[in-house]
Amino acid sequence: MDRVYNFAPGPSMLPLPVLEKVQKDLLCYGSTGMSVMEMSHRSRMYLDIFEKTVADLREVMGIPEGYKVMFLQGGATAMFSAVPLNLMDGGKADYVDSGNFAHNALVEAQKYGEVVVAGSSREDGYSYIPDYTLSPDAKYVHITTNNTIYGTRWDHIPETNGVPLVADMSSNILSEVYDVSKFGVIYAGAQKNVAPAGVVILVIREDLLGHELPITPKVMSFKKMADADSMLNTPNCFGIYVAGLTFQWIKAQGGVAALEKVNIEKAKLLYDFLDESRLFKGTARAKDRSRMNVTFVTGDAEKDAAFVKAAAAQGLVNLKGHRIVGGMRASIYNAMPIEGVQALVAFMKDFEARNK
Ligand SMILES: Cc1ncc(COP(=O)(O)O)c(C=O)c1O
Repeated sequence: MDRVYNFAPGPSMLPLPVLEKVQKDLLCYGSTGMSVMEMSHRSRMYLDIFEKTVADLREVMGIPEGYKVMFLQGGATAMFSAVPLNLMDGGKADYVDSGNFAHNALVEAQKYGEVVVAGSSREDGYSYIPDYTLSPDAKYVHITTNNTIYGTRWDHIPETNGVPLVADMSSNILSEVYDVSKFGVIYAGAQKNVAPAGVVILVIREDLLGHELPITPKVMSFKKMADADSMLNTPNCFGIYVAGLTFQWIKAQGGVAALEKVNIEKAKLLYDFLDESRLFKGTARAKDRSRMNVTFVTGDAEKDAAFVKAAAAQGLVNLKGHRIVGGMRASIYNAMPIEGVQALVAFMKDFEARNK
């Protein structure tokens, strides 16, 4: 069966060489005589995979000394629930409300302390990254670097003047170069740019460990997880192994900087077309446009539905926008080849010509 161009927001496309390697290793990994799925997480053969995966993430992300890297479970939702438990420490926290998940994160934090909404674009349908004012005495500042549903992206890293910056990078991790030293915490669910769902990456500056509230469940304690090297309980061994293959693939592509160039090119192809189209219109403010999730509409819900259906018939699948916003969304993560975006633009042109 032919593979399609899958524009899903997550779980989403994985690089073909990664899937091929998984397929090759599935029954018997190297000379171990077993699948990675069947290995004990305490075995030397699995620890070799785990340690290489951590080292490769450090390399591709440029993670400096003094940061702990973890691969945990529960997705980004578990992480934004754990952040206030681990960092609020009886104080207050600034949250920039730039999208649905940013909002979910701040609602979760309200359970544990004072949340200051430092800026919000909620009233405007989250179509841009809001201006914000930060509190000098906050315990941390939380941002979402890419808003998956609304198709917006921070075009800068906020200056927090020493207050730890916490970033949900679920939908743009490893798609562009970030200076990790500017962040206190970075977390990202794996199911967009890294691996199948069920793994979440946590990168944390070591001095931020050990401040959790006493009620923190031990599987949500960053310190306890760090001390146990992500293995306080059984991790998602197979998902972590696939993440490791993706990191090797990223290295083979020339690293994150090389992927970033291609990602800029892919996004530009789509946005340039949207800007000249008389049928389709981008929904995010131009300055804040995401390179990973391109959101657009025709302005007519029936036409949108017809477009999504006709595109799927051509092997361009999962273009329907999120149920909250409707319209269309093309998620073009690292694994989406430029040919997929070219095929989409060609199809959109054709659809427009037929639907004047
Ligand atoms: C930016 C962002 N944060 C958080 C989440 C929630 O992630 P999870 O389903 O891994 O909990 C998502 C899911 O799409 C997301 O895009």
